[in-house]
Amino acid sequence: MEYIRVRGNGPLHGTVTISGAKNAALPILAASLLADGEVVLDQVPRLSDIEIMVEVLKALHAEVEYLDDETLRIDASKVDVTETPGDLMNRMRASFVVMGPLLSRLGEAHTSMPGGCNIGERPVDLHLKGFQALGAEIDEEPGAVSAKAPQGGLKGGRVYMDFPSVGATQNIMMAATLADGETIIENAAKEPEIVDLANFLNKMGARVRGAGTSNIYIEGVKKLHGAKHTIIPDRIEALTFLIAAAMTGGEVRVENVLSDHIRPILAKLGEVGASLEETDDDAIIVRSNGRLKATKIRTLPYPGFPTDAQAQFMALMTIAQGQSHVEETVFENRFMHVKELSRMGALIVTDGNQASIRGVDRLKGAKVNATDLRAGAALVLAGLVAEGETQVFNVFHLDRGYDRFEEKLRGLGADVERFSE
Ligand code: UD1
Repeated sequence: MEYIRVRGNGPLHGTVTISGAKNAALPILAASLLADGEVVLDQVPRLSDIEIMVEVLKALHAEVEYLDDETLRIDASKVDVTETPGDLMNRMRASFVVMGPLLSRLGEAHTSMPGGCNIGERPVDLHLKGFQALGAEIDEEPGAVSAKAPQGGLKGGRVYMDFPSVGATQNIMMAATLADGETIIENAAKEPEIVDLANFLNKMGARVRGAGTSNIYIEGVKKLHGAKHTIIPDRIEALTFLIAAAMTGGEVRVENVLSDHIRPILAKLGEVGASLEETDDDAIIVRSNGRLKATKIRTLPYPGFPTDAQAQFMALMTIAQGQSHVEETVFENRFMHVKELSRMGALIVTDGNQASIRGVDRLKGAKVNATDLRAGAALVLAGLVAEGETQVFNVFHLDRGYDRFEEKLRGLGADVERFSE
């Protein structure tokens, strides 16, 4: 079994370059199924989740090839399969976003229910509600779901999202691009990854307006053509390195980051005592003396504090002086890292979706399990400031979402290495 060994060895120093955003690349890869022509995507991060999506596209008969390490060429003109393989679907929940493009392009889509990170119920009712609003008929069986467009194809419709779900907004947006007439998504998710997807769809000839606000308007078109697109930088990867630098008391320049995408993190890092400098070439320099103060966070949909940063920020709070507080409002089961951080000497008490953290002077190295992707990152960060050696198991979670994580950390002077047991 693989594990990552981390030995706390002082402040991080140097420069790290952020990769393309996993959560933008995944739906954009799915959206390339809509194109009748060649799509070229640049700044695609090297992650196992991306590999799974590439396998999904190939299984649907798209041609996919790497032009170089981070550039993918996709030709979906021959896509004719409407059923996504269950094993791939089970390995990654985000594969569900191929439903919208398939339904729109081929008139039907079938899949098993998605797997992915183990952070709560994660239903797909809002995705299905959107497809229904476009006239699709939904057939749900235990563990499987099918959607079928009416005779003559999908029709534009109006859908109100009870919660601004990122995946549902993307799926409905994609389904609506080839529908007849206008679709309005109300209370849509506003994440930067939604905007990136809309930009890509528009490059392919779609007519999407309002992405990044609560109301998205999609005027259906007959056909989409190929396009070239560069994926936005990964804001979650960027903030993970910013938090790591603040915790270790170092000075790190994080390059290829759009600061407007991580305002809540910058504000909170400032509150706990780190200093931040935004440069005009998309970099942020973080400086810290490692003596951090307690604070409060509450996760919310964008532009609020991202749930995908909650675990990493909690790792920071474990060594911040005083009583910190976390409220998780996006996922109902996203405190699995608490038990693992506690093994390292963190003092955390949870009550439902709330956690109180009393900062300790020093964590202690331990054997811990990455319970999900961001929890895994939080444990590595904790290891960086712990006394002795930390071994983080279930490394595959980290490989889903961090492009060459250990290598990038080592570049900043961290003592981080991967071993097989
Ligand atoms: C995406 C991100 C994930 C991030 C999350 C919230 C990707 C690949 N993943 O996940 O990293 O943590 O946004 O920012 O982009 N919900 C429903 N019904 C639905 C859909 C969602 O009730 O049909 C609920 C979920 O259970 C959850 C909340 O809405 O409590 C947020 O989920 P959603 O925004 O859909 O997250 P994902 O798109 O799965």
